[in-house]
Amino acid sequence: MRITMVGSGYVGLVSGVCFADFGHDVICVDKVEAKIEALKNGVIPIYEPGLDALVESNYKAGRLSFSTDLAAAVKDADVVFIAVGTPSRRGDGHADLSYVHAAAREIAQASTGFTVVVTKSTVPVGTGDEVERVIREANPEADIAVVSNPEFLREGAAIDDFKRPDRIVIGTTDERAIEVMKEVYRPLSLNAAPLFFCERRTSELIKYAGNAFLAMKITFINEIADLCERVGADVQKVAKGIGMDKRIGEKFLHAGPGYGGSCFPKDTLALVKTAQDFESPMRLIETTVAINDNRKRAMARKVIAACGGSVRGKKIAILGLTFKPNTDDMREAPSISIIQALQDNGAEVHAYDPEGMEAARDLLGPVNYGQDAYSISEKADALVLVTEWDAFRALDFRRLKATMNNPLLVDLRNVYPKTEVTRHGFEYHGVGRAGGDA
Ligand code: UDX
Repeated sequence: MRITMVGSGYVGLVSGVCFADFGHDVICVDKVEAKIEALKNGVIPIYEPGLDALVESNYKAGRLSFSTDLAAAVKDADVVFIAVGTPSRRGDGHADLSYVHAAAREIAQASTGFTVVVTKSTVPVGTGDEVERVIREANPEADIAVVSNPEFLREGAAIDDFKRPDRIVIGTTDERAIEVMKEVYRPLSLNAAPLFFCERRTSELIKYAGNAFLAMKITFINEIADLCERVGADVQKVAKGIGMDKRIGEKFLHAGPGYGGSCFPKDTLALVKTAQDFESPMRLIETTVAINDNRKRAMARKVIAACGGSVRGKKIAILGLTFKPNTDDMREAPSISIIQALQDNGAEVHAYDPEGMEAARDLLGPVNYGQDAYSISEKADALVLVTEWDAFRALDFRRLKATMNNPLLVDLRNVYPKTEVTRHGFEYHGVGRAGGDA
């Protein structure tokens, strides 16, 4: 099929490339000329493992092309996906849908024949109806069905998540659109990925409900971790113990410094706002958002406490800046609040991250960036593991002890068993690890 992807960011580019890899003819459109030129030259503007190879092979095979001309790309398309940004609106947390509406308008004016317009971006419940209204106003003659098809891609695992999804959610009751979407996803349904059809508003809510539930699950185990520190229990064992109950499941029960990224913070806030608008408040998610926001600075207090109550004039080495490993994305990363709080308390902060330092420079104050874990740890008074990159999973503590001013590790991702660190003469602080000899 002929597919046009409007928006070539984290979602649009990955989705477009994977559709091309299924054998569809895909045009990825973006307004930013520089981004399209870079893509045509094989330069991928985002860090996503495996994406560059997939772009190159499909571009060379002629199944994938890039353009800034939305009208030309829409004209003969069977399906047009809207995968533009829906950032939190400044100040009130509602999703900003201006890019979605602009895309819908342009699509309506350019489409010919029956066209399925799909909202792939995360959009609040009811946006599909809005998009239908915008399209009708822009071109009453357009023969268009508007479908919701939310993505469930995790950054750093996006290609795998696209190609091996737990399910594909498709929100439409239009018979013609159902047939088209079955054709679009036929390659996936062949490898048994279930197509889940429902009404459009139900599909839009599934996306928010899923992300909010995951954010709440993480926040739950983070609060259990705090209690573990008080009662002398081990949160990793509590997580394993409850996770063996198949109704709970073991995933997304890793205690840490709080969730970040471009989705959970934005989507939880948008769901809370939608619920308030419809006078059916999401109190559990309101509390989840508040707990998570407080947690990031609380982690800085954990570092300060581990340094004896003050970091004034001390050198603190931060391992990892991105909100999670295998991405260059710094959006809502816990490291931002942690570093700010440490600097507010007089610390001199040094940091290293395999991919995130470029983006971090615009977000952080006076941070000293190094080229690896060891260079930033020289003469440091504390080493703080914030993001669990593979590069930080087998540190040479003998080497670190020889160069650090004070052998102290604050492991905010519980990467290390306590004994593996203390036997090298380090003091170890994890998250929820007060108990046991883990
Ligand atoms: C998430 C959803 O997983 C994905 O389905 C949706 O489409 C987009 O949002 P993403 O934000 O890329 O994906 O990352 P994810 O792996 O879900 O992690 C989100 C945050 O939660 C990260 O900051 C991560 O460090 C944190 N996290 C995750 C935990 O603290 N503990 C966990 O057990 C899992």
